[in-house]
Formats: sequence, structure tokens, C-alpha cells
Amino acid sequence: MTISIPRGTQDILPGEVEKWQLIEKKARELCERFQYKEIRTPIFEHTELFTRSVGDTTDIVQKEMYTFLDRGKRSLTLRPEGTAAVVRSFVEQKMFGQANQPVKLYYMGPMFRYERPQAGRFRQFVQFGVEALGSADPAVDAEVIVLAYSLYQSLGLKKLKLIINSLGDKESRSAHRQALIEHFRPRIDEFCGDCQGRLEKNPMRILDCKKDRDHELMKSAPSILDYLNDESRAYFEKVQKYLTDLQIPFEVDSNLVRGLDYYNHTAFEIMSDAEGFGAITTLCGGGRYNGLVEEIGGPETPGIGFALSIERFIAALHAENIDLPLHEGLDVYLVALGEDAKDYSVGLLHQLRMEGFSAERDYLDRKIKAQFKAADRMNARAVAILGEDELKENKINVKTLATGDQVEYPLDQFIDKFKEAFGK
Ligand code: HAM
Repeated sequence: MTISIPRGTQDILPGEVEKWQLIEKKARELCERFQYKEIRTPIFEHTELFTRSVGDTTDIVQKEMYTFLDRGKRSLTLRPEGTAAVVRSFVEQKMFGQANQPVKLYYMGPMFRYERPQAGRFRQFVQFGVEALGSADPAVDAEVIVLAYSLYQSLGLKKLKLIINSLGDKESRSAHRQALIEHFRPRIDEFCGDCQGRLEKNPMRILDCKKDRDHELMKSAPSILDYLNDESRAYFEKVQKYLTDLQIPFEVDSNLVRGLDYYNHTAFEIMSDAEGFGAITTLCGGGRYNGLVEEIGGPETPGIGFALSIERFIAALHAENIDLPLHEGLDVYLVALGEDAKDYSVGLLHQLRMEGFSAERDYLDRKIKAQFKAADRMNARAVAILGEDELKENKINVKTLATGDQVEYPLDQFIDKFKEAFGK
């Protein structure tokens, strides 16, 4: 019996993996320009880290975590997201004491959520995310948003929609919370069990419910924007001003609540507007989480960040019919004929590679025609042909595949001549 891949996961094979590498490369380059430094944290953490930060009334914590007891009976969880671990590390490694503030970090790696798999939704997916800790300047909010937006743009995406909202500070949220409870309480028995449980604990989560999305009370629910105090409103206006200055188009959507509990002030999502993208259109989500560092045991520290998955990034590229500039091809394919020439080619191939060329040869004892075919398939710029006679006469032939031109070099000068003709 064969064993198949687990549901909601995927193999990324050569041919496809180059897209991932390009996106990852662009993300790293952009982070360098924006001065975000990479952090790598474990794939699993203590379960409590996520219940405390993501929130125990969220879908992620209630339904989607891969939680297990290790042999020492500790409850561990495969990370469902990256922010909690970054904040844990920020506190544990005392990054708040570093000279350079704010601390700007990025990460890239697999996350795990036990969700119902569908297009754009996997159980293992790769997030690229950034977190800026230590500044409550709305310019950082704009910077974080513009970083995500620029990454999509840098690979040619055009049909992007940025939506933003403010969830306000503690005071604003608590006024809104009270209004939500009053709004839903009289008819809460018309809602699902989850929502009933959330009414007193975390009524904002009701707005995020997938089951009761169409209930009439959802549409008429009090909007957070009507409950922002002066400070929160001024903050939100500043973020909008900066985005306008940076010419990043956006829409304010007071229904944007996000699926994690740690947010306040700015919340945002970037969606794909491309036709045929599918039901799930969110490419990227993030927001401000002032208070989270204290929750994890650190000093009062504001923070903001986002995460996006490479899976949905690629789906968006596909929906906009964007072909990434991928195939570099091979510099040279070495055709060796006869035992001595083949022996000789081992060293030659290595020399070419050490000089920085991508080089390949035949390992299956194929006939010359099949070797040329292989060179073609690999999109080689040149084929170098070394037969028994050439070897004896200190010669090697080099054919440029695009033009069909063929030249002969002295074998002992081959590397230098090849560098002159094909060097990058
Ligand atoms: P999130 O909205 O849960 O936020 O996820 C962020 C992004 O991860 C989504 O917009 C989507 O691109 C991707 N994603 C989530 N679930 C899946 C899935 N099952 N399959 C494929 N892609 C998925 C967070 O995770 C926060 N930590 C973001 C953040 C960082 N906020 C502040 N800093």
C-alpha cells in the first residue's frame, strides 16, 4: 500500500519551487531595505503561549491548533502563526534593552492550522511576516503596510485591495464591547453555540463568526469607529494620512476585526481583487498589538506587524496570469564521448562549477544525440564536446545553442577561453 501526503499539505517540486525562492528572495531584499532583520524561532512552543496571545475564544485556539503532549507530559503546539513566538523571544532575549529601537524583525517558515482544506487554505502553509516592536509612531504602521504592499507590487500584482480599520485603544474597545453586548444579548439564542459563549467573554469575535455571517444583527452591529476616543481617532487619521502621502490606495472597513485577539488600533488586510481568485481573497493580514508584550511578561512595549502566506501569493500571481522571470537555464552542458574523455570531464566539470558556471554532464551513458537533447531540455547556453580524438589533440569544441556557432579551443585553455566568451 502506498502512503499519501497528509491532507492540507503539499509537495513543492522543482519547477514550482523556483517561484517560492523568488518570492522569498524579494522579501529578504525588501526587508534589508526597510531594515528588518531575520529571526528564527522554534516550530513548536508551549501551548500556553498561543492561548494567552492569540486568545482562547478564537477559532485558531479553539479548533485549529496541532497540540500534543511530549514524552515529558508538556503541552506543546505546532505554531499556528509567528507573532506570539517573536514576542516571546523579544521578552526572553531581552530585546527591549537593545540600543537600536524599535526592534524590527522578519520571519519566514511553516505554520500549522487544522482548518478545512480548500483553495488557498492549507494545514501547513508558509508565512512571511514582520514585527516592529518598541514604537507607537503611526509612521511605523504605514511602513509595515507599505512593505507588504510593495512586495506584492514588486512581483507585478496589480489587483490589490488594502482595507484598514481601527480597533481603538483599551478605552474605546471597552465602550464598543459594551455596545456589542447590548446589541446581541436580546437575540443571542439565534446565534451558534460559539457566539453564545463569546457574548460576555469577547463579543467582538461574534463579528468574525463564519456560521452567523448573514444574521441581520451582524449588519446593524455597532461600529468600532463610532466608539473611538479622541486619541484613537487621531492615531487612525495619522495612519491614513501617511498612506495617502505614500500613494497607497486603501478603503476603511469598520467590519474588519481579524481572527486573533491581540489587536488594537490599526488592523489591515490586503486582498486580491483578481477575477477568479476564489472564495478566500485575503492575501495578507496584520495590525497593531500594543499590550501583547506585557501579556507575555515583558515591559510595556507597543508593536505592529503582518503576515502573508506564500501559497496565497502564488495563487494571486496565477489569478493575474503573471509569469515570474524564473528560468536561468544552464551555462554549459559537457558532452564527453569515450571512457578517457568521460574521466577527463569529471575534473573539467568541477573547474567550470568552481568558476561560477552552472554546468552539467551526462551520467547515463547516453548517445551523443540524447546528450544534446538533454542540453536543450536544460536550456543550456553552450554545449562543450570532448571526444577521444579531441582529448588526444588537446582540443575541445564549444557550440552556442542559440546561434549554432561552433568554435574550437585548446583544451588546456578551455576554462579561460570559456570565461572570456561566456563569463557573466
Ligand atoms: P492571520 O490573518 O491569521 O494573521 O494570517 C496571516 C496570513 O497568513 C493570511 O492573510 C494568509 O495569507 C495566511 N494564512 C493564514 N491561514 C492560512 C492557511 N490555512 N493557508 C494558507 N495561508 C494562510 C496572523 O497570522 C498574524 N500573526 C499576522 C500578524 C503579524 N499580525 C501582526 N503581526
